[in-house]
Amino acid sequence: MQRFRWGPMDRDDQHGGQRRRALLAIAAGGCAVAAAAGAPTIIAVVAPARSAGGDGARYVVGKLDDLAIGVPRKVAIIGDEIDGWTRAPKRKLGAVWLHRRGERDVQAFSVTCPHLGCAIDVAIDGAGKASGYECPCHDSSFGLDGARGSGPSPRGMDPLPVDIAPDGAVSVIFKRFRIGTREREELG
Ligand code: FES
Repeated sequence: MQRFRWGPMDRDDQHGGQRRRALLAIAAGGCAVAAAAGAPTIIAVVAPARSAGGDGARYVVGKLDDLAIGVPRKVAIIGDEIDGWTRAPKRKLGAVWLHRRGERDVQAFSVTCPHLGCAIDVAIDGAGKASGYECPCHDSSFGLDGARGSGPSPRGMDPLPVDIAPDGAVSVIFKRFRIGTREREELG
């Protein structure tokens, strides 16, 4: 364990002080250069990238023709994962539930349970039809519209923006939300 010492500096301390001063001078110079070049340079150097990439981006998740009306379908979100300074391409970032309600009407929800983050499943009734969603971890249930039913989840399922292109390509904007809160809070 290193101890803090009071008193005059020894040789190492002096050299350490010189090193620190030199580093500070270099850092100050770097900031001046960065300031001249614009703030993004400073952000790129000081702040590591997001711990998980791909959030807030739009992903094509399939074709409208692949979705049967009234039958929720779970699809993976594949994209580049950014961890600190590294980028891993084509990783599974998460998954979403797609529910086609009409000819050109598709709803999307995050599969992540707002309670403690387990993956939500679809609930099937006695006739084999989808009746809503349920979380296997602590038995939270949700309607087909994502509304909170029973169980400990503090809110309904988290909806995601959907777009249907003229050619029928279905895309969603993938987002993550804080778990365990009644209010829906998007994580940046
Ligand atoms: S994590 Fe889903 S009900 Fe607890």
